[in-house]
Amino acid sequence: MQLRDARLPDTYEPLIRDALNARGYSLDEPARLADAVMKLSNFYLENPSAQTPWDETWAQVASLVYFFPLNYSRNALVARECARLGFFEGLSQGVDDGAGMGSGVHAFRDFLMSLQTGGLSEASSWLARDISQPALKLLNELSLQKVKTEVVTGSLRAKGAHSLLIASYVFTELKDIPREWLEYEALIIIEPSTKSDARRLQSERPKLIAAGFELWAPCPHQQDCPLLVSDRDWCHDRVHFEQPKWFTEIEKHLPIKNKTLAFSYLAARKQQSPVQGLARLVGDTLDEKGKSRQALCRSSEREFLAWFPQRFKTKAHLEMSRGSLVKLASDLEKKQQEVRLKEPTQVEELATDQKI
Ligand SMILES: C[S@@+](CC[C@H](N)C(=O)[O-])C[C@H]1O[C@@H](n2cnc3c(N)ncnc32)[C@H](O)[C@@H]1O
Repeated sequence: MQLRDARLPDTYEPLIRDALNARGYSLDEPARLADAVMKLSNFYLENPSAQTPWDETWAQVASLVYFFPLNYSRNALVARECARLGFFEGLSQGVDDGAGMGSGVHAFRDFLMSLQTGGLSEASSWLARDISQPALKLLNELSLQKVKTEVVTGSLRAKGAHSLLIASYVFTELKDIPREWLEYEALIIIEPSTKSDARRLQSERPKLIAAGFELWAPCPHQQDCPLLVSDRDWCHDRVHFEQPKWFTEIEKHLPIKNKTLAFSYLAARKQQSPVQGLARLVGDTLDEKGKSRQALCRSSEREFLAWFPQRFKTKAHLEMSRGSLVKLASDLEKKQQEVRLKEPTQVEELATDQKI
């Protein structure tokens, strides 16, 4: 396993196979499946805020073999990141709103069940909600342990003090954050990594704070977002995707390659965040004329971690992932926007399962 990677567990393969067979498709016809994927991809590209056309078989098929494994992996990384912060402690009910085929609820539930601690590790603690009945049917075809489902009809009930709401790739289909989401104790919103979606999501931070939330991830602070200052920047994360073999076969027929998956997210709770004195890497390493730089977030100030690899006495190669939390030495030199490292030992990259 790499430091920040995720995959769809093999237990899903027979479920996906059966769901495809029930729709007149087979997992052994990668070219035909790729056609369905292209059709839904083009639909999303041409209608960025339109709702998923769940009544169409090709949309269900594309979701099963493509968007489900991708969004499952993104959700799995966020679940892991939140768990190491203790985010799920005290929560006993989980709602996946706009659950679709269940990428969110399945990834969170599988991960929390594997930890076997806390209320959310019970299969029965979860509710999946969507406006589409066919989507929720598909969700339970992908589930060995049935998930309670609810078709959203308009008036949404507010949830109690111990409830978590997750919304994966849903806000992008909505005009605004539903008022009801703000009544939860904990909120995790995952969105596409595009500049407009990511900036739109980060722009909601003040609204969440005003509703009583503290931001737990990716933001290691409660100040303004430093990446909203310049309109060239936007906060997004990335996970290495370990593809199932059948996925690789489908991808051979697609113009898009998914070695890594980008996304943006916010995790917030109505409790104090334990993340104090840490920074998050919010960019990739940029190498320029003997100097390396990587965008860093720890306050409202736009900053970069910077180092000159040739000047390290140890000659160690420093490579850190976008999205990682890091602990910095307290006596680092600051030059304009740059926080300078003299030696690689002045920064410690914390693994995604390392408890905070
Ligand atoms: C792009 S899909 C994402 C599905 C899944 N959460 C995922 O991450 O793969 C967006 C889902 O939101 C649902 N949706 C759209 N508007 C909604 C609303 N007002 N309430 C609940 N669900 C909604 C759509 O039917 C669709 O299933």
